[in-house]
Amino acid sequence: MAARPRAQNTAETLADKQREISISEFFTKNRHLLGFDSPAKALLTTIKEAVDNSLDACEEAQLAPRLLVEIRPEADTFKGLDLPSLADQDNASSSKSNGQANGKTNGRKPSRLAPVREERYRVIVEDNGPGIVAAQVPRIFGKLLYGSKFHSLKQSRGQQGIGISAAGMYGQLTTGKPVIIYTRTGAGKPARRVQLILDLKKNEPVILSDEETIWDKDHGTRVEITLTGSYKRGQHSVDTYLEQTAVANPHLHLTYINPKGEQRDYPNATDILPVEAQEIQPHPYGVELGLLARMLKDTSCRNLNSFLKEEFCRVGPKTAELILTAADLPERKNPKRLVQDDVRRLLDAIAVTRIPAPPTDCLSPIGDELVLAGLRSGVAADFYASVTRPAAVYRGNPFQIEVGLAYGGALPGDELARVMRFANRVPLLYQNSACAITKAILTSNWRSYGLQQSRGALPSGPLVVLVHIASVWVPFTSESKEAVAHYPEIIKEIKLGLQEAGRQLQRFIRRRQREKEANQKQSYIQKYIPHIGDALQEILTLDAPAREDVIATLTDTLERSRKF
Ligand SMILES: Nc1ncnc2c1ncn2[C@@H]1O[C@H](COP(=O)(O)OP(=O)(O)OP(=O)(O)O)[C@@H](O)[C@H]1O
Ligand SMILES: [Mg+2]
Repeated sequence: MAARPRAQNTAETLADKQREISISEFFTKNRHLLGFDSPAKALLTTIKEAVDNSLDACEEAQLAPRLLVEIRPEADTFKGLDLPSLADQDNASSSKSNGQANGKTNGRKPSRLAPVREERYRVIVEDNGPGIVAAQVPRIFGKLLYGSKFHSLKQSRGQQGIGISAAGMYGQLTTGKPVIIYTRTGAGKPARRVQLILDLKKNEPVILSDEETIWDKDHGTRVEITLTGSYKRGQHSVDTYLEQTAVANPHLHLTYINPKGEQRDYPNATDILPVEAQEIQPHPYGVELGLLARMLKDTSCRNLNSFLKEEFCRVGPKTAELILTAADLPERKNPKRLVQDDVRRLLDAIAVTRIPAPPTDCLSPIGDELVLAGLRSGVAADFYASVTRPAAVYRGNPFQIEVGLAYGGALPGDELARVMRFANRVPLLYQNSACAITKAILTSNWRSYGLQQSRGALPSGPLVVLVHIASVWVPFTSESKEAVAHYPEIIKEIKLGLQEAGRQLQRFIRRRQREKEANQKQSYIQKYIPHIGDALQEILTLDAPAREDVIATLTDTLERSRKF
């Protein structure tokens, strides 16, 4: 039978299909970009977003963080087929989502889908931070791309203004339950309890209830999100994430209750809070044409001289003068009047002017001692080393690398090294192979430090490698913030850090090897000393006590001949 000719599209029929896409519709379809691509990962991501926010908030308010993380199984267990397309569920009704989950959509044959077991959990994260003012609560938790950190260059865990609202959206889509927030901003003020959902078409919050409540905390925030997920142990688990969070945040006091009701406390290893990272202006070397043009349009400065001095870091009167002379632009010119050719000249002038590197007080590394303390508390090894590199710059953004190594002891000797990756003190558990940190480790020559390594592989042996990147803007490869992009400057710094720590490890391995060889030699000689005693007794006709004296003298000489 001849195929029916397909109706041809015209510009008009195609025009009918054009439609605006809301941010939330986009991310419901692409939830993998936000870290919600599997039930186990969704559970981890939700906790990670809430914990990151709590730690940021406590540090911003200079409060020693005390956090509670609880995963409570909900009685209402959901057994579905492979997760339904979230794009179809934009009205957040749980009955609808269950209906779809049972395969009654689009005439698809449910029997062809593999059954997936998912459980329903309530994730609770509570902090003792500064709390959130009532007017901000709805948009923080119910609007994607709303936050306080995107527009500033400051080292923090959050960057994008998408994390916690995305977690709430995932919970709503999979269970239909609202996000519940308790928050209080001070002892003299009432606590509030807010329940809200997201309007996914408009990307706006819908408040279901907002009331005063009694809360035993003077200040802080508690977020409750109900979602379908999967609780697993192992490398990518919530347990690992929290353990590593405690390692990189020794000032954190954490209580964790897992779905089985087992409680684990991670007491803070130090009372000292990290040095508060300062916010900085962009460095001139980091700007691109489009950004410079926008900054010139948006500035409130009246002339180019003050624009350069106020909108950038490291530009003083002298540097501003040098740039403007090189660009052949008058100091008094209004920044808004620059045409594209002027902007290009300004950018070229910046590139040829010597400008000091950005300040580094905007960075708050963990520090040598605390990296070591963290490794010691988490890993039982024989040798520990840590290296903090001086600050460096990628695309005008300052960053700093820290490396920690643990070797020997109870670590398994016949496996590949374990890698712990951190960005602004947040453990990165997924997208290992896409990360600049992994690339730097793989392309370092570990054999020269006395370890085994196959080509293009991790070194093998009883080794843990910790790498932390602290930056005012960590260049992640995606919105889910799981892997660091391959900027050559960043890879170079990580490799230099690994080299420095590797050399310390090499000295330890060599010394241990020498000790082993000397011990072997000693025990070999020791075996023959009594025979030498016997021989001397016979040749020199010594009596028994004299023979014992000879043996004692030889043993003593052997002991003292050890070179270490
Ligand atoms: N527990 C909290 N206490 C105080 N403020 C909070 C808390 N959680 C979130 N906020 C505020 O809400 C904003 C939005 O949080 P959200 O996690 O959505 O984005 P973000 O942290 O800015 O960036 P990212 O998407 O990278 O996580 C934050 O910038 C912060 O100002
Ligand atoms: Mg966040």
